[in-house]
Amino acid sequence: MQDFLRRLNKLKQEKNAIIVAHIYQLPEIQDIADFVGDSLELSRKASQTDADIIVFCGVHFMAETAKILSPQKKVLLPDLNAGCPMADMINESKLQELKALHPKAKVVAYVNTSASIKAQSDICCTSANAVNVVKSLKDEEIIFVPDRNLGAFVASQSGKDLILYNGFCPTHNNFILPEFAIAARAAHPNAIMLVHPECRPETIALADYAMSTGQMCKFVEQSPHGDFIIGTELGIFHKLKKDNPQKNFYPINSLAVCPNMKKITLAKVLDALETEKNIVEVGAEIAARAYQPIQKMLEL
Ligand code: 13P
Ligand code: SF4
Repeated sequence: MQDFLRRLNKLKQEKNAIIVAHIYQLPEIQDIADFVGDSLELSRKASQTDADIIVFCGVHFMAETAKILSPQKKVLLPDLNAGCPMADMINESKLQELKALHPKAKVVAYVNTSASIKAQSDICCTSANAVNVVKSLKDEEIIFVPDRNLGAFVASQSGKDLILYNGFCPTHNNFILPEFAIAARAAHPNAIMLVHPECRPETIALADYAMSTGQMCKFVEQSPHGDFIIGTELGIFHKLKKDNPQKNFYPINSLAVCPNMKKITLAKVLDALETEKNIVEVGAEIAARAYQPIQKMLEL
């Protein structure tokens, strides 16, 4: 490990590179990253850093967003096959069909979408700011893509009737089920239950709060409570335990893993930085159009 770190740090210095990681990344990736955060925090970091190379430890749409925000930088995704099944559930023609049915509607795109979907949208959001983004729109009709669960949560919190697309995150939707939340509550009756809004509405209804991964980390740090039931991808447990060694964390389902997030390994990070391969590119025209809704979100 010492040798690995020496090589990695030397390369980082020589190439003026920064390593950023999503909270769902493997523990060893989080430990070598310069910055660990949720989707919104990572977007902000990507737009603010003066590094020449961003090694993005996450999934494709996140690295793509970083590239759109910093077109002059080289963005490397250590495994180009690390995608997001939810983002892949919608494509341009499906969105066009929906827009044709609701020609006056504004389109809110979750950042978990490809650049071409963002390019056809009015404003982006992450799970951390989705409610505020929707509340900021004065329009009668709002299409929300692609996550039906986050969309339903935002509709309930904003009081707005959203036109939802039928996408979902397999990890949150299929693994973090209400029956497991009930069992976790019974096993840890004094714990606060935090779930991600990508979970089903029936699961969210059983929780104390629904919030983004970054918000969960802040909530736990600031809370006087010692016990927490957590309903999101398991990568978050490493950060929660590291930042709060005296507190206890219980997963709603210890099988809630995102296989794509786990495709990034230490060897792939070193290889990507050494060879500068696995470059994430976005065509200039799409990037220019996709930049607008992302920037609108960041300005809110
Ligand atoms: P946040 O990090 O924004 O909470 O998103 C979770 C997620 O599923 C990212 O793919
Ligand atoms: Fe996509 Fe879900 Fe994995 Fe996030 S956790 S990258 S939404 S599949």
